[in-house]
Amino acid sequence: MHRPATVEQPTANPPPQPDPELANRQWRTAYAEIAQLAGGLAHEIRNPLSTMRMNLDLLAEEFAHPETPRDHRVLRKIERVRRESHRLESILESFLRFARIQQIQTAPADLNALVEEVRDFCDGQGTAQGIVSRAIYEPGLPPVCLDQDLIKQALLNLILNAQLAMPDGGELILRTRRDDHAAIIDVIDTGTGIPAEILPRIFDAFFSTRPGGSGLGLPTTRKIIEAHGGSIDVESEPGRGTRFTIRLPLSQPASSSPDPS
Ligand SMILES: Nc1ncnc2c1ncn2[C@@H]1O[C@H](COP(=O)(O)OP(=O)(O)O)[C@@H](O)[C@H]1O
Ligand SMILES: [Mg+2]
Repeated sequence: MHRPATVEQPTANPPPQPDPELANRQWRTAYAEIAQLAGGLAHEIRNPLSTMRMNLDLLAEEFAHPETPRDHRVLRKIERVRRESHRLESILESFLRFARIQQIQTAPADLNALVEEVRDFCDGQGTAQGIVSRAIYEPGLPPVCLDQDLIKQALLNLILNAQLAMPDGGELILRTRRDDHAAIIDVIDTGTGIPAEILPRIFDAFFSTRPGGSGLGLPTTRKIIEAHGGSIDVESEPGRGTRFTIRLPLSQPASSSPDPS
């Protein structure tokens, strides 16, 4: 017999509510497992790959003075495989560098001095390419808690990208400033700029528009900055140039070990 349901009637078994905490934990476990697998795989590949590359280097030396057409053909093939194995090694190194950013060791540092050190380091390559670099440092910037090696790596990635975007020369501006909460670094170039349709993808792992690019420079940079509790933004105008802006909190980040994402 049909009994009409009343609104007041309690449901015998209420549908289970999703537990966001549990889902989060499961997601983290799965992520950690995949990250560990990927890191392990990269390490496993590294040694045999380096043996292969070293043997190819030796083989290329053996054919350093090709005499017959056959020697020339062999050398060309060796060179091709050698180039590709160099490329694989460099991708692997970039990947391991990216994967290694787990723990950061922060200490108060003079940001202006740090930026200047990286600028000075890169200036030789820039000058050779016709790039003029300019530094605008905010005087009296308070010490910023950071991992010096990692922040240098992050800046280096941005400056190398800027140099690659100015093959015929241009201007590179490194500027520091601050607001109430953050120390800010701008890396500005007058290079090719980034088309609007690819701008949303430039921080994706393995995204690159350059032949031989690893596509790991910007993801590594972002991971480093976020591990410091900071952020990185980009603005670009095709044909005019690009500006990356890094913000690092002026107070100590809540945790010195970043979220595994
Ligand atoms: N300063 C820049 N000017 C123009 N394009 C840039 C700049 N920085 C990054 N890009 C774009 O973002 C892409 C990803 O950069 P990145 O992650 O460093 O990888 P890669 O340098 O190996 O290509 C580059 O291939 C390029 O298309
Ligand atoms: Mg790069």
